[in-house]
Amino acid sequence: MSTILVTGASGQLGQLVLKALENSPHAVIAASRDPSKLNTKFATRAADFDKPETLTEAFKGVDRVLIISTDALAMPGLRLKQHTAAVEAAKAAGVQHIVYTSLPNPEPGNKITFAPDHYGTEQAIKASGIAHTILRNNWYIENLLMSLPHALETGQFYTSAPEGRVAYVAREDAARAAVAALSDAPGGTYTVTGPDALTYGEVVAIANDATGKAVRIVPVTDEQYAGGLKAAGLPDFVADMLTSAEAAIRAGQLDGAADAVKTLTGRAPKTPREVLTAALKA
Ligand SMILES: NC(=O)c1ccc[n+]([C@@H]2O[C@H](COP(=O)([O-])OP(=O)(O)OC[C@H]3O[C@@H](n4cnc5c(N)ncnc54)[C@H](OP(=O)(O)O)[C@@H]3O)[C@@H](O)[C@H]2O)c1
Repeated sequence: MSTILVTGASGQLGQLVLKALENSPHAVIAASRDPSKLNTKFATRAADFDKPETLTEAFKGVDRVLIISTDALAMPGLRLKQHTAAVEAAKAAGVQHIVYTSLPNPEPGNKITFAPDHYGTEQAIKASGIAHTILRNNWYIENLLMSLPHALETGQFYTSAPEGRVAYVAREDAARAAVAALSDAPGGTYTVTGPDALTYGEVVAIANDATGKAVRIVPVTDEQYAGGLKAAGLPDFVADMLTSAEAAIRAGQLDGAADAVKTLTGRAPKTPREVLTAALKA
């Protein structure tokens, strides 16, 4: 039996990981910046990557750690600093296996503004000498539920990547893959996707089928796309990040369904149609 620690345990992915660990034979510790937010049967600990001096203690006695990437995107470079602190603490605490949630194709040349954080973290993990498994999670299917409600209201879905494809994965499947990776022997870099790569046109067709509405795709330029997001009140860094993702989608950097979920967990991932239809009907 090993001791597994999950960082970021109060986040959406973290919660699903804890749920998937419920029948684990391992000792599980749920770690969060604020453990009082955690409603879990597992032991809890405080772990804040912005407080590196506390992390060695937080990781004490832990054999395997899931480092869930943070959401600190407003300040360029901060997330890499946070993740590097977590890797250094894992090393100091004698952790034997790191599992990290990365991004598909994070190497230099990726168009997404935050890709360097993931690439840098992968490099830091490799340099640490700790055995590891990298899970390059594609876009969650659930992300679409942030843009689809507005599109369903207006009948228009704006995109600057109308022809591009994304191999969306259900957050729950990403959680199951993480738990499997934590339970298996370390090793490997997996691109964690759903079973199909969809265009926005195909996504919108699913939403139309689920709701009986008639949303249509409106192709725009990156400038128009970013301008629209900023005019709608999104902070500049979020608008720029989402626009950079459109460029990545056009470049095929989020395309390509892989079999990692099935390989790691033994069960096929959910389709975007299953997840979106259930959510939009609910
Ligand atoms: N593939 C995708 O489509 C996609 C979409 C969104 C995000 N992501 C990435 O995947 C991660 C998990 O997704 P999610 O949906 O669960 O996001 P979320 O619900 O927004 O969770 C944010 C996560 O960041 C952690 N965090 C923030 N600051 C931290 C710090 N200083 N030290 C340690 N942990 C910190 C939080 O942990 P606590 O609050 O428990 O400390 C929490 O787990 C995100 O943080 C982001 O890096 C991927």
